[in-house]
Amino acid sequence: MTYAAITGWGKCMPPATLTNEDLSKFLDTNDEWIVSRTGMKERRVSHVSATEMAVIAAKRALACAGIEGGQVDLIIYGSCSNDEQVPNCASGVQVAIGATKAASMDLNTACTSFLYSLTAATAMIRTGVAKTAIVIGVELISPFMDWDNRNVAVLFGDGCAAVVLQATDKQEGILGEELGCLADARQTLRVRGMGTAYTNRGVTSGDTEWDFDGQEIFKRAVQGMVQASQAVMKKCGVTPDDIDLVVPHQANLRIIDAVVSRSGIPMEKVMLTVQRYGNMSAATVPVALAESLEEGRMKPGALVLMPAFGAGLTVCAHLVRWGDRVTPLALSDAELPPVKKSALDMVQDIRARKHRDTSKAGLHGLTFIEQM
Ligand SMILES: CC(C)(COP(=O)(O)OP(=O)(O)OC[C@H]1O[C@@H](n2cnc3c(N)ncnc32)[C@H](O)[C@@H]1OP(=O)(O)O)[C@@H](O)C(=O)NCCC(=O)NCCS
Repeated sequence: MTYAAITGWGKCMPPATLTNEDLSKFLDTNDEWIVSRTGMKERRVSHVSATEMAVIAAKRALACAGIEGGQVDLIIYGSCSNDEQVPNCASGVQVAIGATKAASMDLNTACTSFLYSLTAATAMIRTGVAKTAIVIGVELISPFMDWDNRNVAVLFGDGCAAVVLQATDKQEGILGEELGCLADARQTLRVRGMGTAYTNRGVTSGDTEWDFDGQEIFKRAVQGMVQASQAVMKKCGVTPDDIDLVVPHQANLRIIDAVVSRSGIPMEKVMLTVQRYGNMSAATVPVALAESLEEGRMKPGALVLMPAFGAGLTVCAHLVRWGDRVTPLALSDAELPPVKKSALDMVQDIRARKHRDTSKAGLHGLTFIEQM
């Protein structure tokens, strides 16, 4: 049987940091509320496009795996905040890393996009369609954020990471996964202002309002991730004691706490990044994975559980067997250009650009979409 081992990893975090105190300068919020309800202290705001972050992360992952772009035959770009729709973003990464013989595609399941992409790439490697793949989780949420809504503005951040998958006979990479979608709850999270439904009605793309039922999402996310985690452990014949490391989606520290405690796994086994990066949607799990290696928390042969959820409400849990290598074969010298503005200044620029009054009418009354 062919498996798809994770042999390279690399992250690209934009340096500009937006603190809770920064947020309290333009929102009715405070550090105490944000930390106690979410565990978040700061998040990043990118000064470059999502594709630029993805290129740097992909170059770092390639160096880590000790391979060249020309050896890659599949690129999957997991994201819901694409720089553009046509052409796809994966092809932009392909050009920049010289992956001339690769197939390239974008995949959007919101916050679970990286893990769904990992499943798709693994399946293509198992069936012989590809041998070497790059899977990217990237998100540039800041331009799409409704920065005047404290219910959502404090929760998200930008970021990116990528992994290299390579075909192997060894039992490594994904051992099993559980994928699902709690579609009856899809109305709980909607970003109005992204997509043709809105541009057709005269809305400037990115001039958003978020429908966000935080408490309902919280409840469904915990239930969904616990069920998916239990199902994948059962399918693979492992118990919570067998799990060495949990690398979960990080939308809220209290959600993570509830998921692992109900799954019978102690918090000490969880790789946490929520305090420094907030929720980076598709980038969250791969960034946490890369940092678990940088911090020496990933041990050779570790069994890793990765539960996640996102808008849809998509839900999943993956069981991954890590290989022998936990250090990079080489380091890339690829770097982002320097940032000239503070994160707060960049957010204030985005806020200033939004023309809410002129476009608001087009954000509502989408009968067909709203009935689904
Ligand atoms: C959003 C979330 C943090 C809110 O936490 P909560 O404990 O459920 O808080 P509540 O919704 O009960 O809000 C309590 C109060 O805080 C207020 N509040 C909301 N955001 C606030 C903020 N940033 N600062 C201060 N007060 C805030 C609310 O207005 C509410 O006030 P009210 O009681 O006067 O109406 C939590 O529900 C959550 O994490 N949900 C899921 C996260 C998620 O969906 N992420 C994205 C999907 S991937």
